[in-house]
Amino acid sequence: MSGLTQQRGAEHAAILGVGAYRASRVVPNADIVEAIDSSDEWIQQRSGIKERRFAEPHETITMMSVEASREALDAAGLTAKDIDCVIVATVSHLLQTPAAATAVAYELGTDRAAAFDISAACAGFSHGIAMAADLVRGGSSRHVLVIGVERLSDITDMRDRGSAFIFADGAGAAVVGPSDVPGIGPVVWGSDGEQFDLIRQREDWRDVVGSPEKPGSGVMPHLVMQGNPVFRWASFTMAKVAIEALDRAGITVDDLDVFVPHQANMRIIDAMARSMKLPPDVVIARDIAEQGNSSAASIPLALHRLIDEGQAKSGDTALLIAFGAGLAYAAQVVTVP
Ligand code: UT7
Repeated sequence: MSGLTQQRGAEHAAILGVGAYRASRVVPNADIVEAIDSSDEWIQQRSGIKERRFAEPHETITMMSVEASREALDAAGLTAKDIDCVIVATVSHLLQTPAAATAVAYELGTDRAAAFDISAACAGFSHGIAMAADLVRGGSSRHVLVIGVERLSDITDMRDRGSAFIFADGAGAAVVGPSDVPGIGPVVWGSDGEQFDLIRQREDWRDVVGSPEKPGSGVMPHLVMQGNPVFRWASFTMAKVAIEALDRAGITVDDLDVFVPHQANMRIIDAMARSMKLPPDVVIARDIAEQGNSSAASIPLALHRLIDEGQAKSGDTALLIAFGAGLAYAAQVVTVP
């Protein structure tokens, strides 16, 4: 036997279009402070968040994903039939199986595209972009839709002081496809499972349901976070990962036009920018002030806003860096579509 036929894909991959869907309910700090004995001033000072977006009941994971994807497809000049793989990054699709991506692929009208979810929390979108670039270059897919989507309001304990003011809902999508020139740089990614417990679902579903020996809690297993250690980890470690992503792409901060970090906390964004010595003309995404932290959706939402407002232009060089529960992280340089 002479071996199996191998496939080869495009020479290069790039993001061809970006779309977004912001959940419709605007929730200012004033609406949540009483339950957590906090204040608008404290939340703004510590996190930079003024208000966040929460989804209404009809704004499901599927609905928000489809809306964001339609816009991304339009921006790429493609239709759903061109998509042969759908990757959904989320931690708040509450149906354990099947994958949200299968419903999204169907609702969009793809021709039975491959569809699966990935769980890398706030780092999910950057994981998806890395995988999509490799799928396109490896020949498994021609056009991949990468979606970051969350309804974190479903799994947030609005009486938990450490997290109630942070989380939010929304969806962002990007179409990744073949390109004449490199549009997605090498990913720098990893995890630190020693800190597995810092951001997590409070309890296992089996503890919620219970057993004959031990009654269940019957309470939604909310997402909880030990904010300060995560804050310190992100502020000190992630700038190094970001610089490594620039190195791997063969550029420096001086070549950068746009910086789109995960929208976790305005102070982390500022600390990273300082530590990386970003030149003052680099545009920095600060979507968190009005959107809150929408985990896997935060980077595509922030990038979409910069494109929409004309702050990021087609052909600009942007650095994406995502980090969160796990602790998992991923960073790459991309060309703005
Ligand atoms: O998206 C995934 C990744 N997530 C992140 O990257 C989030 C990272 N963490 C953070 O953003 C920050 O840790 C928070 C914004 C969550 C909290 O800010 P912090 O500066 O780390 O505050 P802290 O937890 O150290 O608390 C400082 C003080 C404490 O009081 P004392 O001990 O100094 O008297 C807390 O009891 O603030 C108090 N505090 C609050 N006060 C008013 C804690 N939570 C609140 C609150 N309102 N909600």
